[in-house]
Amino acid sequence: MRYLVTSALPYANGRLHVGHVAGAYLPADIYVRYLKMKTEDVIYICGTDEHGTPISISADKENTTPASIVQRYHKSIKAAFDKIGIEFDNFSGTAREGHYRISQEFFTNLYDKGHIVPKDTTQLYCEHDQRFLPDRYVEGICPRCKQEGARGDQCDACGATYDATTLIEPKCKICGTTPVIRSTRHWFLKLDDFTGKLTEWISSKTYWKENVRNFMLNLLEQGLVERSITRDLSWGVPVPLPEAEGKVLYVWFDAPIGYISSTIEWAEKIGQPDRWKDYWLDPNTQMIHFIGKDNIVFHSIIWPAMLMGQDKKYCLPHDIPANEFLNLEGQKVSSSKDWAVWVDEFAETFPAEYLRYYLAVNAPETKDMDFSFRDFQARINNELNNVLGNLINRVLSFAAKNFASRVEACPLSEESKALVEEVMRTAHECEESYSQFGVKASCKKIMDLARSGNRYFDERKPWTAFKTDPLHAQETLFTCLCLISKISVLFSPVLPKTMAELRALLGVESKVTWNEVHNVIDQAFVINEVKPIFRKILDEEIDQELERLQTKAAPAKAKNYKALKELISYDEFSRMDIRIARILSAQKVPKTDKLLHLVIDLGFEERELVAGIAEHYAPEAIVGKKVVVLANLEPRKIRGIVSQGMILAAEDENGLSILLPEKDSGPGSTVQ
Ligand code: MF3
Ligand code: ZN
Repeated sequence: MRYLVTSALPYANGRLHVGHVAGAYLPADIYVRYLKMKTEDVIYICGTDEHGTPISISADKENTTPASIVQRYHKSIKAAFDKIGIEFDNFSGTAREGHYRISQEFFTNLYDKGHIVPKDTTQLYCEHDQRFLPDRYVEGICPRCKQEGARGDQCDACGATYDATTLIEPKCKICGTTPVIRSTRHWFLKLDDFTGKLTEWISSKTYWKENVRNFMLNLLEQGLVERSITRDLSWGVPVPLPEAEGKVLYVWFDAPIGYISSTIEWAEKIGQPDRWKDYWLDPNTQMIHFIGKDNIVFHSIIWPAMLMGQDKKYCLPHDIPANEFLNLEGQKVSSSKDWAVWVDEFAETFPAEYLRYYLAVNAPETKDMDFSFRDFQARINNELNNVLGNLINRVLSFAAKNFASRVEACPLSEESKALVEEVMRTAHECEESYSQFGVKASCKKIMDLARSGNRYFDERKPWTAFKTDPLHAQETLFTCLCLISKISVLFSPVLPKTMAELRALLGVESKVTWNEVHNVIDQAFVINEVKPIFRKILDEEIDQELERLQTKAAPAKAKNYKALKELISYDEFSRMDIRIARILSAQKVPKTDKLLHLVIDLGFEERELVAGIAEHYAPEAIVGKKVVVLANLEPRKIRGIVSQGMILAAEDENGLSILLPEKDSGPGSTVQ
């Protein structure tokens, strides 16, 4: 069997956080490592997704080019993957020449077959920046949930997708002005052409995860609509039509083609340029796309349709294990609010494989899960240290101390045979769960096995047996060493480095293959070294992480910035008459909490006004202060008092703060 495994291409516009890893990368890496241990023919392909409006917006903001943003994050993401041992056969990027060529070929093939058609559409256009505002280039109020800050293509608050022209109060993301509607031509993929084929195809996918299969069936039932696959942008793959100058392919059209272009790059790198065809053009290839649930529609409908519409006979996805999300300390991860655990930072503080373990046992396979630092600490200390680490330590130490580090094979009693059988059972169960992408289940089985090992060791009390019946103790040790060495195989996909260390201690072959778990061990163990392979995580370390998370995220979390109001002209501004005034007297307006009744001196006259500051200022505390007042505001009657003017104050989540002149400007001074 031949396998082609991919993980969703991460956008090259941000760092890698643990949520990404838990969903689309670690499960794939574990699966691939398992297949490789079974000496299956498998390649693991990925790369960065280097187009899309967020990348060009970042570039605009930083006054640099999209290419330099992409280069920076490609490096940073790749380095983070390396740190936690996510090992691709190739990690490419979608802004490379080979990718452009094949993306254009995909478009042309579909176009020539009539699956892509042009349509005149209306789009938001910024007259100030003289450009269209696709996708995230525009923000406004969501037409569905009325939340502010909704983007042109989607509202993060309610998840609605809509036509950007229906956004309420749209604003250009670059300059903040209100865009106008203009017409522009775009090309649409007629997904409905593939409804029949897709339906037939999915009917055979009974083994797919329910979330993916149901999602897809649902969409098919609702009827597939045409999708615009071009954009008015300069960063992207140019649309290969003479009449489409200045337009590029929509990022989601070219991104999955990155799986192919990265495979081609891999084949070229290994000096066998046609090798990619063995994977992509063989109908027997099992192609498996690991993704997060937000990517389901693209991988289960649009991408297969794109493949179906090609001249070349590409294989279709065999399976699409889509994972749910990983939250952080009970809240949704947010890169922009810095509510995230960054992989590179994490790996500086803790052994990187602790993260692999925690994300594996806590994998969001069937529902959203939570990353919690205290839970992380508990899992590492109570499981890796107290169960597996403890077993290894006691067995190795005992062997070193009492058997001069050499434990010969010996005949096994029924009791020991039962444990060996449990090892075999666990091996089979792990085979089953690993091959079905169940990393959580595999970890659990392996830990249970380690628990059985500890129980067996306790019950057989080798420390007493050794004095009276050394052979009994030897059998205990040998059986435990067999079990530990099998664990070093079973756990390798999840903890490759740590298991390699363990194998070095045990003095077993450094190269690990899956077959080993089925072999009967009949040779002596010669222990190389005794040392702990895990360390405990201290409370202080966790306190520090939590504090760091809170302080980093706090300013962004608490602040809910108000949207900027529309621009006003200088004229409009100069119509406001703002003055310095001294507060002569202040008293609470009876029967109110918020209002103070003030008498102020404007230099040229005295006035009364009512200010809503009583909750923040005691009357006696502000008498005598010089404040800033909007003096030509039309008078208003408040609680029977005619209020002539308004005191200016700043407001944030901590309350109100009245503005004071920094120097001793006298009452009546103008403010501009
Ligand atoms: N960049 C996308 C995301 O992070 C995933 C792209 S997957 C691909 O959501 F198949 F299109 F490459
Ligand atoms: Zn603009």
